[in-house]
Amino acid sequence: MEEKQPVLELENVSVGYDSTAGMVQAVNDVSLKIYENTIVGLIGESGSGKSTLGNAIMHLLKNNAVLTNGTIKVMGKEVHSMNKNELRKFRWSQMSMVFQSAMNALNPVLTIEAQILDVYRSHYKNMSKKEARARARELMEIVSIDPTHLNSYPHELSGGMRQRVVIAIAIALDPKLVIMDEPTTALDVVVQRSILDKIKQIQKVKKFAILFISHDFSLVSELASKVAIMYAGRFIEVTDSKSLSHTDQHHPYTEGLINAIPHLTAEEVTITGIPGNPPNLVDLPSGCAYHPRCQFATERCKTERPVVHQIDNRDVECHLYDAVRKEVLES
Ligand SMILES: Nc1ncnc2c1ncn2[C@@H]1O[C@H](COP(=O)(O)OP(=O)(O)OP(=O)(O)O)[C@@H](O)[C@H]1O
Ligand SMILES: [Mg+2]
Repeated sequence: MEEKQPVLELENVSVGYDSTAGMVQAVNDVSLKIYENTIVGLIGESGSGKSTLGNAIMHLLKNNAVLTNGTIKVMGKEVHSMNKNELRKFRWSQMSMVFQSAMNALNPVLTIEAQILDVYRSHYKNMSKKEARARARELMEIVSIDPTHLNSYPHELSGGMRQRVVIAIAIALDPKLVIMDEPTTALDVVVQRSILDKIKQIQKVKKFAILFISHDFSLVSELASKVAIMYAGRFIEVTDSKSLSHTDQHHPYTEGLINAIPHLTAEEVTITGIPGNPPNLVDLPSGCAYHPRCQFATERCKTERPVVHQIDNRDVECHLYDAVRKEVLES
């Protein structure tokens, strides 16, 4: 049987930033496929390269960033081979992104309607203002905002409503891939929950694929069916989210993240953090970049970069799985 075409296909993608301190290896050889109608989570600590990867997929990298290796395909098209005109048509209609802190980046001097109409009219040159307005109303209803707010300015809306507007703009042209970069981080828990429910509800109807970026482990494991765990620019594990409810047979970093989720038991709340700090991306540790923080690290981990091992539905980049743990797994 022929394999279905992925909506997003990353193959050995690396991105670096040119800086005075040297080359910042923000994304380091990552590969991933996302298919239609699925939500894939991307999690990692601050500075692990999540937004850089999102921006690279959109071909909206900062001026000092370079895609140093690999290919990024969206709907089978190589994003970084497109010319400006092709990209202009492709962005928002095939792939879109809710940028980190976007709700604070809405244009303060334009009404919500004007900002939504901009999206329609820049892509559909022949669309009448009347039709664009009707679509904008529809879109407001999809994200559960009263269409009267089309006449509002961003500062007149609450944070949660502004975030809904940003999501509405991202889905306005029915893209196949929506990248959401920390879409609920700045919001309080109740609003966060309602936005998440809304995202799930819209996704079910529209069936687009979502790459959902977050540092909130429990949130991502609830929302996504598959999760990529990023550490120092690499996917150290790509796993089905179901298996994140248990701590064995994961990458030690993933196990650390699982243990860092507060576990409410009858008597006490236990949280175990991961000791140490993420590495300097200009001067990465040799071997496995996680080895200075890893309680299982061996001499080999300090010198040799691990390859990916497949364990059930997980791809784990860790030496433990071809030595110590292999025996355990097979016993
Ligand atoms: N313009 C830039 N020039 C140089 N280095 C940069 C630039 N932008 C980001 N970086 C570095 O690249 C690395 C990855 O940054 P990125 O913003 O992708 O991380 P992130 O995982 O999205 O973090 P957060 O969770 O805080 O949003 C960090 O070490 C960051 O300092
Ligand atoms: Mg980020």
